[in-house]
Amino acid sequence: MNILSIETSCDETAAAVVKDGRTVLSDIVYSQAQLHRLYGGVVPEIASRKHIEHIDEVVNEAVKAAELTFSDIDAVAVTYAPGLIGALLVGVGFAKGLSYSLKVPLIPVHHLRSHIAANYITSPELEPPFICLVVSGGHSHIVEVVDYTNFKILGRTRDDAAGEAFDKAARVLGLPYPGGVEIDKLSAKGNPEAVRLPKIDIEGAPYDFSFSGLKTAVINVVHNLEQKGETFNKADIAASFNKAVSDTLTGKFMQAVENRGYKKAAIAGGVSANSMLRKNLQEHCESLGVKLYMPLMKLCGDNACMVGCQGFYEYKAGNTADMSLNGYATMSIENVIY
Ligand code: KG4
Ligand code: ZN
Repeated sequence: MNILSIETSCDETAAAVVKDGRTVLSDIVYSQAQLHRLYGGVVPEIASRKHIEHIDEVVNEAVKAAELTFSDIDAVAVTYAPGLIGALLVGVGFAKGLSYSLKVPLIPVHHLRSHIAANYITSPELEPPFICLVVSGGHSHIVEVVDYTNFKILGRTRDDAAGEAFDKAARVLGLPYPGGVEIDKLSAKGNPEAVRLPKIDIEGAPYDFSFSGLKTAVINVVHNLEQKGETFNKADIAASFNKAVSDTLTGKFMQAVENRGYKKAAIAGGVSANSMLRKNLQEHCESLGVKLYMPLMKLCGDNACMVGCQGFYEYKAGNTADMSLNGYATMSIENVIY
């Protein structure tokens, strides 16, 4: 089954063709990041406008790169929630038109479910059940993947998402958007023990996160140093912040892995590209005899092949939509609606 998939939830216009859920025939990503960099973050209206300019060529390119024609497409999958609403609607509208004209099923895909599915493409042997740390620009969750379309949230952030915290800390350090990868790179040159930053626990909720205090702490450290006119080493602050986030995510996730007795664990979302987090988790999982699955670096960020993969399992579960499909800025990974 050839699924043509579309992803426009944020600032990547992406399309792919995926065969039978796990074989990627093409994977096209047009990133707008350079453009948003001018403004220090994603400007939603610009994102929507760029999607509408580029979606046609990106989709055509995906079909061409798969060495297929539109008549070989058996279904259209699209990210419909959560994300920037104007951006999502471009993908949803385009997918509806394609599904209608090709007379093939329309499959709505939840963005975080698709991030988790990036692991099925990277590791074809992986099957649920397993536990997953989902860390993106908008979400931080510890999720039990009970089955391909059955998810249970064990923990979540109470305020900022991990990626959001990275981006804000990067901004205060004068690093360009998107900041996560910049902090990651700069950290390699710094001392992670240089600055003491708080690690926040939430009473009675061992698997929940809070990153806004950490973000404020880093902002205060930088502002205090600036006010005193002291020169400071940005790399030390980046490394200390990176370590604080990575230690918090790893500590809480490993507690959940152990307490729930999982021997298979995965990570997903843009922040899963973070080198300190990957190394930290790898070491902890190894010491517990837990197999850790991580997406290929190029599949950590937003792409459409993960949508085609999850779309296959949604289709098998009977989760298709009609022409009334809408986009949604927020939606739980557990209870999806169309
Ligand atoms: O999953 P994603 O591409 O988009 C959303 O669904 O939100 O995640 C984007 C987030 C951004 O906040 C970005 O700074 C962060 O992932 N990110 C990283 C790294 N690469 C991307 N954060 C830390 N380290 C990285 N290497
Ligand atoms: Zn994403």
